[in-house]
Amino acid sequence: MGVRSVSSLIRSIAGLAVGALALSGCGSSLDQSGGGSSGSDVKVGLLVPLSGVYAPLGEDMRNGFQLYLDQHGGKLGGRTVKLVTADEGEGPQTGVPAAQKLVTQDQVTTVVGVVNSATVLGMRDFFHESKKPLLVANAGADAITGARKSEYIWRTSFSNGKVSGALGPEVAKDVKGKVYLIAPDYAAGREMVAGFRKAFEAAGGKVAGEKYTPFGKTQDFQPYLSTIRASDAKAVYTFYSGAEAVSFVKQYKQFGLAGKTPLYGPGFLTEGGVLAAQGQTAVGVKTSLHYSTELDNPRNKEFVDGYRKKFNEPPTVFAVQAYDAAAVLDKALAKASGTGGEELVKALGGVGPIDSPRGQWSFDADHNVQQKFYLREVKSSGGTFVNAVIGDLG
Ligand code: BEZ
Repeated sequence: MGVRSVSSLIRSIAGLAVGALALSGCGSSLDQSGGGSSGSDVKVGLLVPLSGVYAPLGEDMRNGFQLYLDQHGGKLGGRTVKLVTADEGEGPQTGVPAAQKLVTQDQVTTVVGVVNSATVLGMRDFFHESKKPLLVANAGADAITGARKSEYIWRTSFSNGKVSGALGPEVAKDVKGKVYLIAPDYAAGREMVAGFRKAFEAAGGKVAGEKYTPFGKTQDFQPYLSTIRASDAKAVYTFYSGAEAVSFVKQYKQFGLAGKTPLYGPGFLTEGGVLAAQGQTAVGVKTSLHYSTELDNPRNKEFVDGYRKKFNEPPTVFAVQAYDAAAVLDKALAKASGTGGEELVKALGGVGPIDSPRGQWSFDADHNVQQKFYLREVKSSGGTFVNAVIGDLG
């Protein structure tokens, strides 16, 4: 399915869901005073995948948000947080109605989360029209802080074009020959490849081929790996995350490509539990990302220690993005004159720099994150595997 038809499908799903809610009377119950929040409380909706291929990412985000709350007495901006968690599932069909329920039925003040680019694109108009603030703590869809930006939508994560584009010049410099591009067939897969390709070709790189695999359904990558081996590619650039990243990287090694044909991608490819499952098969994979547990700064050390103590595992970029969303809300709610959508977005505009484990960052004029990207390489360290930071990508 092409990008145009994916986005029109998403728009019609979102339209149907909004229409259904309006018919059932829920659409008219939106309360601009901040919904179910009252007095010294604030109701926050956390929308993350608890099922499907991205469920582990959702779990990390939930942990990151909870860690911030635990470290701040369960309060944001001086208000006690009532957290309502909902399952985003695997795409807009589940994620859009879940967001609508949080706003119209649970009457949350704001929604935080959303992993999948297609899902965030599907809910964009709902948040814009209902004037409810949405803090996107993962989904990288470029248009959300670009052509379809909204006063009510803010990002604490990254955009697909930027995180993938950051690696383009580096690969063009490293690889003597053509590069093959492969990713899942949905909004993020296509945007990651497009962002990388643009920066890579601008730096003189040449592409050997481009392929998209059915999203959330591909377990056997052998046919695609055969095509790559038969091509004249000297390296591969890919975007997979969650369960698909584990299968792709393991099969890349089993197929005999690792070591001979270097593998590159955005850092989601080798992040957290995914890297633990890939183990030795991921060693040598190079990625671009705005975070690594290995970042050498006091804020990150304190964060990693606190996270490990509470959850008995290292944090991930997904946990950091949700932790930072809580930090942003903490500052904004402290400044806001009330918990209505307009009051909250006005305060979001004045939060200033965020002192994050990834390094300090700020919102740009489009509500995207202005941040540094790091070059990482998977290395074996003390019986485990880490994304060592081997350089800055600007
Ligand atoms: C996305 O759909 O935007 C996405 C999903 C997982 C990791 C990174 C991006």
